Amino acid sequence: MVLNLGILISGNGSNMVNIAKHCKLKNINCNIKIVLSNKNCGGIKKAKKLNLKSMILEPNKFKNRESYENKVSTLLRDHNVNLVCLAGYMLKLGKKFVKKWEKKIINIHPSLLPAFKGINAQEQAYREGVIFTGCTVHFVDQYLDTGQIIDQRIVKIDRNKPLKDLVKKILNEEHKLYINVLKKLSKEN
Ligand code: GRF
Repeated sequence: MVLNLGILISGNGSNMVNIAKHCKLKNINCNIKIVLSNKNCGGIKKAKKLNLKSMILEPNKFKNRESYENKVSTLLRDHNVNLVCLAGYMLKLGKKFVKKWEKKIINIHPSLLPAFKGINAQEQAYREGVIFTGCTVHFVDQYLDTGQIIDQRIVKIDRNKPLKDLVKKILNEEHKLYINVLKKLSKEN
């Protein structure tokens, strides 16, 4: 089945750009229908450059978080989205939104979940002394970084190198992982 993607971002958008590249190359059976960000960020500029439909919706312009998420949901539905991809989206989604899109939201996280949930997961792993870390794509539930794991990729930590090298190495693997997961999901549905 063709996956109609709604991509939610808050930052650089490198995963989003990579997904767009693979859509264009027809490596994956997906279309990006809309890119939404909760703030002005590098990723939104990149989406515009790629001629993707994109929008900034700032939560503080809404009455409360629920009405903000209702608007996000309506926009996704209006654009025929059937899979919501979180790619560096830094806000936790509310229970109602998650229920509406049950098993239709996936997220990428820069650690081998369930280890190192939350922010700065790469740094958490680097400081903890583990030998391997990596990245995970999982379905999103109402809690933080706890939903069912879809797939992971492993990265070996080299402590002779600075943390920023690890972050880069993981991001590189994230790009491959997200594409593999989209391939898998489009075949399953
Ligand atoms: C990635 O490390 C992702 O795992 C995390 O946020 C970062 C987003 O990177 N959730 P980008 O915006 O796709 O470049």
